Amino acid sequence: MTVEIDHTLEEIRRFRPSPEFAAQAVASEDLYDRAKADRLGFWADHARELLTWSKPFTRTLDWSNPPFAKWFEDGELNVAVNCLDRHVEAGNGDRVAFHWEGEPGDSKSYTYAQLTEEVKRAANVLESLGVGEGDRVAVYLPMIPEAVISMLAVARIGAIHSVVFGGFSSDSLASRIDDAEAKLVITADGGYRKGKVFPLKPTVDDAVTKSGGSVEHVLVVRRGENDIAWTDRDIWWHEARDAASPEHEAKAFGAEHPLFILYTSGTTGKPKGILHTSGGYLTQVAFTHKNVFDLHPETDVYWSTADVGWITGHSYVVYGPLANGATSVIYEGTPDTPHAGRWWEIIEKYKVSILYAAPTAIRSFMKQGRSIPQQFNLRSLRLLGSVGEPINPEAWIWYRHVIGGGSIPVVDTWWQTETGGIMISALPGVTDLKPGSAQTPIPGISVDILEENGTPVEGEGGGLLVVTEPWPSMLRGIWGDPERFKETYWEKFGDKYFAGDGARRDEDGDIWLLGRVDDVMNVSGHRLSTAEIESSLVAHPYTAEAAVVGASDETTGQAVVAFVILKESQAVLAADFTTTSEELRKHVATQIGAIARPRQVFIVPELPKTRSGKIMRRLLRDLAEGRQIGDTTTLADTSIMEVISSQVR
Ligand code: WTA
Repeated sequence: MTVEIDHTLEEIRRFRPSPEFAAQAVASEDLYDRAKADRLGFWADHARELLTWSKPFTRTLDWSNPPFAKWFEDGELNVAVNCLDRHVEAGNGDRVAFHWEGEPGDSKSYTYAQLTEEVKRAANVLESLGVGEGDRVAVYLPMIPEAVISMLAVARIGAIHSVVFGGFSSDSLASRIDDAEAKLVITADGGYRKGKVFPLKPTVDDAVTKSGGSVEHVLVVRRGENDIAWTDRDIWWHEARDAASPEHEAKAFGAEHPLFILYTSGTTGKPKGILHTSGGYLTQVAFTHKNVFDLHPETDVYWSTADVGWITGHSYVVYGPLANGATSVIYEGTPDTPHAGRWWEIIEKYKVSILYAAPTAIRSFMKQGRSIPQQFNLRSLRLLGSVGEPINPEAWIWYRHVIGGGSIPVVDTWWQTETGGIMISALPGVTDLKPGSAQTPIPGISVDILEENGTPVEGEGGGLLVVTEPWPSMLRGIWGDPERFKETYWEKFGDKYFAGDGARRDEDGDIWLLGRVDDVMNVSGHRLSTAEIESSLVAHPYTAEAAVVGASDETTGQAVVAFVILKESQAVLAADFTTTSEELRKHVATQIGAIARPRQVFIVPELPKTRSGKIMRRLLRDLAEGRQIGDTTTLADTSIMEVISSQVR
């Protein structure tokens, strides 16, 4: 018998916190005890400790109308003031809020005092454009300081931001503008990516033309200096900013006042506008940022490499770090520009002590080899974090050894756009670390693993991950669609939140995430829906039918693989399948965005369907991953997989 050794299953080492780390750790075992004794009291204490309330709250949680939670409802605060003004008032105005590094190597640092002034000016600009409480503002920017300033200025005036990742297409942007009925779009002429200026304004022009007419103005930051068209609704950011007053009186808003909408992929083609509110959200992101990253704000330099277009960018680039008065690094570009060691160079330059990155990046660095990071001084690092997808133990070990020098904690953090903040993670200095496992719910969070029928999995075993109690930074709904909110997350298990992830509990009670159980793919830590890409493919004139699967990929976690049936007329014409596939790959990239571009498009004569006509994606995934094709007996035509396989090979 041959035994196949899978390295990821062989890794059984455990890592005790070093006594030196434990001695200075922010988190302590006591957090678990306090949360266990009085969960709501625990969160109320942290909400009071971590945030400054203009009007104190007296009620912690109202769960009388599940699944619509209200946290700290009668309290009032201003989120931007909590991230800015109060630090200045406390005497920390000269502390750097963030060091910004442009891709071409230009850089700029903002102190808390300077950032506060910029946000006040931007808040005045927004108000002068007629944006007020509850209005929606779409933000479509590169990773430049104005992205952070825009979000905070929107928050300061009680408006709601909807940040759209700068890599999304004009169609994607238009549908998000329409869904939220955004009044204003904030964009830039262009930004730097891979050594070139990547234009953004033309995409906004196109999106605004396509959209339903809610947009009154477009505020344009000058960054790329690329040529752009100009319309009557456009305003230069720098001109408006210079003309605006640096004084701005901030109003307090209710704790449940909406803070932002962030669109994410679900199981259907239409992205969901996940809604987050103020007090509970800020409490949990500040708490987790402090305790999971062991933040010492006076001395640490923290860097989360995420883009503000994703939830990690909201919670752990903007709100968590700024609420805690941290000093961060923000980088505009890609990790390999102008050279493969760019990240390590940035860590050396700013003496970064805490790094929060995605497994897909770590795996691509592993591929390039340790000789690249070893050319830089990374000794300032004292904690590493991972997010976005399961981190395989090999990557975990590499991260700890090659980047972290072999002895510093690595925290694997599980959470979602919907959860708003970290839910499952080790606490550094407290937990013994186990590579590959996200381990334990953070204090104050209760999760469980259920069978398909809702019974809890006892002891060791796998099933579906649920959150069993409401939590402060939980989504408050899907923008404009309360029914979809209930159906998607709450219908399956009643009062428990269904996360859409499979999970397993090991003999120590630690949790291992097993990936999505629905039709959501995770490509380079970005969420994509199979249905969304399928509908983009069938919108192409060549396509009759399409099926998309997420196939495992060494670097990106999963990759998009599409199977397409051409329309009869096209099938005859398209003698060259390679060109047709290429055309379809490009089409998806233009329609949705480059992140959705399929790795492969296979032109096939048929798709595997059950007798009731449901596409069996499981079989296509077997094929895409080069595995033996699974059970085909439920197919209407059992010979079809052979035909498809021969076509694919
Ligand atoms: C996956 C990103 C395993 C998971 C913050 C989840 C993870 C989805 C981890 C949410 C992790 C995120 N281990 N899987 N540490 N972190 N995921 O909304 O499938 O972009 O449901 O939020 O990413 O992706 P989202």
